[in-house]
Amino acid sequence: MAESLKGLKRTCRCAELTVDDIGKEVTVMGWVQKSRNKGGLVFTDMRDRSGILQVIFEEDICGSEVFEKAGTLHSEYCIAVTGKVRSRGKDVNKELKTGAIEIEAKALRILSESAPLPFPIESETKTREELRLKYRYLDLRRAPLQRNILMRSKLAMSVRNFLDEEGFIEIETPTLIKSTPEGARDYLVPSRVYQGEFYALPQSPQLLKQLLMCSGFDRYFQLARCYRDEDLRADRQPEFTQIDMELSFVDVDDVIDVNERLIKRMFKDVINVDVELPIQRITWQEAMDKYGSDKPDLRFGLPICDISETVKNTGFGVFKSALEAGGVVRGIRVPGEGHMPRKKIDALVEVAKYYGGKGLAYLCVNCAEDGGHKCSFAKFMTGEELDAIVAAMGAEKGDLLVFAADKLNVVRNVLGNVRLELGKQLELIKKDDWKFTWVTEFPLFEWSEEEGRYMAMHHPFTAPMEEDWQYIDSDPGRVRAKAYDIVLNGTELGGGSVRIHQADVQEKMLEKLGFTPERANEQFGFLLEAFKYGVPPHAGLAYGMDRVAMWMAGAESIRDVMAFPKLKDASDAMMGAPSEVDNSQLDELGILVDPEVLKAKEKNAEISNE
Ligand code: AMO
Ligand code: AMP
Repeated sequence: MAESLKGLKRTCRCAELTVDDIGKEVTVMGWVQKSRNKGGLVFTDMRDRSGILQVIFEEDICGSEVFEKAGTLHSEYCIAVTGKVRSRGKDVNKELKTGAIEIEAKALRILSESAPLPFPIESETKTREELRLKYRYLDLRRAPLQRNILMRSKLAMSVRNFLDEEGFIEIETPTLIKSTPEGARDYLVPSRVYQGEFYALPQSPQLLKQLLMCSGFDRYFQLARCYRDEDLRADRQPEFTQIDMELSFVDVDDVIDVNERLIKRMFKDVINVDVELPIQRITWQEAMDKYGSDKPDLRFGLPICDISETVKNTGFGVFKSALEAGGVVRGIRVPGEGHMPRKKIDALVEVAKYYGGKGLAYLCVNCAEDGGHKCSFAKFMTGEELDAIVAAMGAEKGDLLVFAADKLNVVRNVLGNVRLELGKQLELIKKDDWKFTWVTEFPLFEWSEEEGRYMAMHHPFTAPMEEDWQYIDSDPGRVRAKAYDIVLNGTELGGGSVRIHQADVQEKMLEKLGFTPERANEQFGFLLEAFKYGVPPHAGLAYGMDRVAMWMAGAESIRDVMAFPKLKDASDAMMGAPSEVDNSQLDELGILVDPEVLKAKEKNAEISNE
């Protein structure tokens, strides 16, 4: 029978009690982690969001009625216990924050019982994630998730405090909007009033925050919910939160400055890590050439080195044909790994192939029995040519050199990933290392093979670097943007840019992106119109707040720092969303589901029922 509180008041949380409270009478409320009857005593571990506390029921102290009731306790019963705090004497449990004390219970209320659980509530779980997400409210009772969610709240608070101190104003922007060009697919919401028309859920508040600058708010921020219908990965969810900001009358360095201080503050407040400032900066070009990635993991070295010049006249067909086709030959020097077993080298070749390479050539410097080089392409080159490669790579006896030859973007991708694999395999990554870097000067455009046109690398409102604007017609690919990403240990935490605030530059930009004036007007005419009335120079940035939280929590998955995340297939296992809706709802919206879709669904249901 579930009892009510009847005026009973909780005096503190379970794990807030310490040895200083010994002798006090307290009332705690929470859940039964476990309860066992041992030689006339009932030991109950009670749990609330602060942690675990041991409660002891002794018949002599609590009386037979309470003792009997204590004997009926099961896991996850919700209870209230009143009793005295006492020392555990020598039986200290070092694993528990409250391990030196316990409660000598006098009274017990069973506030509600619990049905048998679908899975045990324990820190280390073996339960599969689908089941845990179906019962997320139970999953969230587990200590690591409680910790993560509390930490996330601290993060939000830290951000709010800092930005408030810096004169930012928190402004909410709507989530039923017109599609914003952020590059992913939109989630659409049908309109009942305007049948056949749709709102889009924001992929980010990009245009709205720019309009707030036009309105004169100067410094805006928001913990903004964003929606992107894209393939999910360990650090992507269809619905996520940005720490989003925009500032007026600023340039790149101003945005970087305030954000470095924000980063320092967040990491200090939430996980007590001291981030050293200034954070290093690397241009996009250098990041791509040296690390094969626009989000380089700088916790270890192994930079990529270009040897195209050195090998251009050699007889190795693989290198030669790549160079003749306008490609490059680049390599990584792995110090002291010349004797890496063949099997491991073969595994690296597989990594190269997985990322689109045709192979991975290698050379082990002076590692052959006769003191010469062991090399996968030795038969195509003279000894001098091999020595020249070794010299160009700055390599020494005992080093392993690996090479990829192909188109520039393929080589970058292949070696970038081989480098990451080497970092992992050779355990070059120190635990608790926090390597932040700004990646700056991104190209303004990127060429899309699929669409046969230039696309905005960040978004169409990103300002070009003044000195490159002269190439906008002759060589658009050469124009760099005033865009920057903040990268931590090889993940992109956030990104932003200075925005275009001059109408002629914006027009040219849209033209280069293939927008006719009509289409531009249709899609974001409201922004172009707003820009006619005195627009301040402005810039901004947005962090993926979930990604920041993930790093702070040391979580493997973004789902571990969100209260109610979606599964990898974007469904919500707990609520059963998305779901079909009543025909009457569809009628109101003027929506008819394609009969072919319904037929296919029925067929799938039949198959899964068989
Ligand atoms: P961008 O598209 O780079 O920029 O997004 C900013 C940051 O949001 C995070 N993020 C995600 N996190 C979880 N799941 C997702 N599906 C997801 N997609 C993005 C990333 C990313 O760095 N309006 C611009 C910002 C600006 O220019 O001010 C924008 O949205 O951490
Ligand atoms: P092959 O002549 O195809 O046997 O290749 C000789 C060596 O070059 C092998 O070690 C291959 O893995 C390697 N290789 C093949 N294609 C490439 C490439 N595009 N870049 C680098 N190495 C390659």
